[in-house]
Amino acid sequence: MSKVYKVVVVGMGKRGKHHAAAFKNSPRFELAGISTRDPAKLEAAAAELGNPRRSTDPLALAKEVRPDIFCFCTPPTARLALIKAGIESGAELIAYEKPVALSMTEAIEIRKAVQAAGVKTVVSHQHRYGQHYQKVAEIIQSGAIGRVHTVYGHSVGWMLHLFTHLVDYMRWYNGNADAEWVMGQAAGRGKLADNHSSPDYIAGVIHFANGVRGQIETGAGAPDVPEVDYWWRKNRIGAQGSQGFAEVLTGGGWRAVTKDGVQSGEGCMSYDLDMPPYVEDMARWLDDDVTIHPCNGESAHKGFEITMAILRSVVERGQIRLPLGPGEPELEALSRVLPDRPVLLSTEASRKEYPGSAS
Ligand SMILES: NC(=O)c1ccc[n+]([C@@H]2O[C@H](COP(=O)([O-])OP(=O)(O)OC[C@H]3O[C@@H](n4cnc5c(N)ncnc54)[C@H](O)[C@@H]3O)[C@@H](O)[C@H]2O)c1
Repeated sequence: MSKVYKVVVVGMGKRGKHHAAAFKNSPRFELAGISTRDPAKLEAAAAELGNPRRSTDPLALAKEVRPDIFCFCTPPTARLALIKAGIESGAELIAYEKPVALSMTEAIEIRKAVQAAGVKTVVSHQHRYGQHYQKVAEIIQSGAIGRVHTVYGHSVGWMLHLFTHLVDYMRWYNGNADAEWVMGQAAGRGKLADNHSSPDYIAGVIHFANGVRGQIETGAGAPDVPEVDYWWRKNRIGAQGSQGFAEVLTGGGWRAVTKDGVQSGEGCMSYDLDMPPYVEDMARWLDDDVTIHPCNGESAHKGFEITMAILRSVVERGQIRLPLGPGEPELEALSRVLPDRPVLLSTEASRKEYPGSAS
């Protein structure tokens, strides 16, 4: 019989509850404990989740439960301290929400700490479990679009919400190649004060070691995806090759043109569909070290490094070579240099999300 892994989930907001429910509903896990800071929220979540052990103190709970998996789903400001709590709890795997960190320095600290402790990490770029995302990967990997020369991704949602999702899938569609250098530009200060602090608009080019070009944009100036109604899912990620292209729309299926003609199919980002296989791949990785989770922390680190390198390019100007060392927190540096000019929109559909944008 397969081993059942004990899990503690910290943070009982939207994503914490998604994770807790997915662990609870899988026979591969026991949801052994939950934690969040607000006692009333904690009691309400416990009632929904079969009354697991609970505490407002994540470390005390984890030390008592001794989980195999320490999972946390908190805002981007809470990362390194919870990674340290996960390591201290003795967990073999720490699963947490994107973005990996708030700065490159913090990401490097996280990577050092988990490597020193020999702990596996998984970061929630779970859109890739969507059937439409998978179909595009399958078409690209089959060779049907020929030699891939360009990968691209854009979203109207802002950077700290979506940039690392896009990079993660672009890297997947490009055989997980490393990036050698990037260059970027940004505009608009409105979202710097958000709890997902970001420029209103950012665009970058990525030169991958295999010669493939990456093009990425998030925020107010990114193109609309008129085929998709739901604003947060107006994202397009794909690859162009010597014989065609294949792309996924987060909220609107997939399409491809290859030498065999035009094809398209269904699919829409869905937490209900994506979370079960996402958590079950954690059990498989714990069962067997060679079955590495597709959302492993090392891959997420590389995507986050590309993101921070593009921010450094905005601040320092010019090309930025990877890998990056520690440095001034990129979002603070950006805040020093970003001009106080209203961002220009690409679509009226984005105006309510960027109220300071130019008319
Ligand atoms: N992967 C995805 O598809 C996806 C989708 C939405 C959000 N997210 C990410 O998930 C994370 C959480 O987002 P959310 O929408 O669930 O937020 P939320 O505000 O709904 O919930 C956050 C929870 O964390 C708790 N919390 C905050 N600071 C804490 C701390 N220091 N220690 C313990 N608990 C703490 C809060 O009390 C709250 O319960 C963010 O990083 C966000 O970017 C990912």
